[in-house]
Amino acid sequence: RYRDTTAEEKMNPFAEQEAWEEHQIGKARLKYGSKNKKQTSDDYQFVFEDQIDFIKASVMDGDNVDYEEMEDSLEKSKAKSALEALLEERKKLPIYPYRDELLKAVDEHQVLVIVGETGSGKTTQIPQYLHEAGYTKRGMIACTQPRRVAAMSVAARVSQEMGVKLGHEVGYSIRFEDCTSEKTIVKYMTDGMLLREFLGEPDLASYSVVMVDEAHERTLSTDILFGLVKDISRFRPDLKLLISSATLDAEKFSDYFDSAPIFKIPGRRYPVEINFTKAPEADYLDAAIVTSLQIHVTQPPGDILVFLTGQEEIETAEEILKHRTRGLGTKIAELMICPIYANLPTELQAKIFEPTPEGARKVVLATNIAETSLTIDGIKYVIDPGFCKMKSYNPRTGMESLLITPISKASAMQRAGRSGRTGPGKCFRLYTAYNFHNDLDDNTVPEIQRTNLANVVLMLKSLGIHDLLHFDFMDPPPAEALLKALELLFALSALNKLGELTKVGRRMAEFPLDPMLSKMIVASEKYTCSEDIISIAAMLSVGNSIFYRPKDKQVHADNARLNFHTGNVGDHIALLKVYNSWKETNYSTQWCYENYIQVRSMKRARDIRDQLAGLLERVEIELTSNSSDVDGIKKSITSGFFPHSARLQKNGSYRTVKHPQTVHIHPSSGLAQVLPRWVVYHELVLTTKEYMRQITELKPDWLVEIAPHYYQLKDVEDSVSKKMPRGEGRA
Ligand code: CDP
Ligand code: MG
Repeated sequence: RYRDTTAEEKMNPFAEQEAWEEHQIGKARLKYGSKNKKQTSDDYQFVFEDQIDFIKASVMDGDNVDYEEMEDSLEKSKAKSALEALLEERKKLPIYPYRDELLKAVDEHQVLVIVGETGSGKTTQIPQYLHEAGYTKRGMIACTQPRRVAAMSVAARVSQEMGVKLGHEVGYSIRFEDCTSEKTIVKYMTDGMLLREFLGEPDLASYSVVMVDEAHERTLSTDILFGLVKDISRFRPDLKLLISSATLDAEKFSDYFDSAPIFKIPGRRYPVEINFTKAPEADYLDAAIVTSLQIHVTQPPGDILVFLTGQEEIETAEEILKHRTRGLGTKIAELMICPIYANLPTELQAKIFEPTPEGARKVVLATNIAETSLTIDGIKYVIDPGFCKMKSYNPRTGMESLLITPISKASAMQRAGRSGRTGPGKCFRLYTAYNFHNDLDDNTVPEIQRTNLANVVLMLKSLGIHDLLHFDFMDPPPAEALLKALELLFALSALNKLGELTKVGRRMAEFPLDPMLSKMIVASEKYTCSEDIISIAAMLSVGNSIFYRPKDKQVHADNARLNFHTGNVGDHIALLKVYNSWKETNYSTQWCYENYIQVRSMKRARDIRDQLAGLLERVEIELTSNSSDVDGIKKSITSGFFPHSARLQKNGSYRTVKHPQTVHIHPSSGLAQVLPRWVVYHELVLTTKEYMRQITELKPDWLVEIAPHYYQLKDVEDSVSKKMPRGEGRA
């Protein structure tokens, strides 16, 4: 019989109670049929893990135990020991010995620049230290991250370390996903989300500390945040401002923040052996795969981190690696392939943080996210092909493109450093030493100097910041790009001739979307189709992951997809049809399977749509649907996207109307075979050619009707073949 055990005993029942122990072992034998096997300490561990089952089983055996209560307190004690283990880990971080010194520095200075190598514990520990020191009594602690994945995964980690439920005391906020509550005191968020908080609370009154983390990444939002927080710190002396970064550029941050002191966290760094290739690699993806396998087969234990440029590349590499490791035979240790990129489902992201099992080796296939924002323990080998996907912007044409670009020297150093965190490491650069020294820039150009600024300009205007040329930028954007943004916002009627925010602009600024999308939504009021338009906007915001196309069922998948395109309605309306059909089945998962649609993406679209509906209410636009008036919906789309119009050429390619450039319909478009004369597109993507993605047919006179200040009749005359250069007119 059991006596009422204390929590302590339940944690380690073997130590105290022989009867209990015997009983457990007996059950284990019963359950696992290992009667004859001698019990080892490992088995005891085993028993402990499975206690709950045994307790339940013992009830069925007729023993009189209140198992629910026991289960409950067992769970608690398990959580307690997990917490203790985490606390031990926390104490081992390089930042830990500097805890008190750091708190003292924060107390003494309003602005502090904190520098420490990736993995030293800045992101996870500093907010906790500040909380422990009482800062959360005065307001929340915000910690910004350039990437959504980092915000989510770090919040999850910190909630574990603090022993609280994610979303309660510790939460995160990313676009379209707010995992915080009334209780939240430590809030991890993307830098873009903190920017948006300024709209509702220009002095950030509900925060006591703002930590701009990963400042070295210099994302557009981070750069704008710098200017804004610097400004509010002047009239909010109680607000603590921490700028934290991985080693690079600390002086620059300090200079910008009026010579703020720099707090250095000495890192533990082990030597990293750097290897270059002798000759340039023709195919870096293949070279990366071959190098991974070579390391796996010839090098001592330790995990591998491979830097690739994006999801597609990572998926390809994953497939090839899986295929090739199959042929390695049983003598070679298992190679666990762990992809990580921004769009990877959260459940799968957790996998990269799990310790590698004994005898196996992990190969992490990551985007730039692993360069500084995420720390993966156990990495000993880094493979650096030397590229990343980078946004570039042409202010003349207003075209933005994501290009695979060589990284900077600073990035290369950072990547190499990822291998020497827990012991000596090795970095394999898939480029030559000559390339490194002569071809790579020293530093990456900050995003603000290579991006479309329309979004940011709209935001600053709605914060009442008018004189953008004199905004306190750490590195100013090109004046041309600012002008281009002003021009676009004027064209969208968000600004008037004096550059002041209009009512349309004010409404647009409420939506956390690109100005063209926001305009499309605001314009839907006029065409009484706001319900339809927010469905389309939500579907577009999910990205290109709505349809899937399994390799063995491509024909079925394509047919399912074409169903939504009946009548050549165009891609936007097809997306609307997908959404509405799903809704009609009461959001059925089965329906998604049958139609080769990703249910996860649809759920996300539904979440986004709900939020857009809430925002519509805020800007007092009624929810109205008018699915039968397809032209109305198309005109709403055109109201936002008229700068993205293109006209068919004789050879089947298209030419953009305003800044003439040759473009093509993306093969995935429902209109790829139809080739309408005039189209409006959502975005351009450059792969082998410049492709328009998500396309709708339009009538050219709509352009003049909707945007008379942007297009003139001569731009859209259909019978202009005579005026056009030879060979370019229509047949
Ligand atoms: O910000 P910093 O690069 O200085 O370090 P951090 O992100 O606070 O990471 C400190 C440690 O927390 C890492 O070495 C990881 O062991 C752990 N960590 C984790 O296990 N899971 C995460 N999502 C983030 C950090
Ligand atoms: Mg960090």
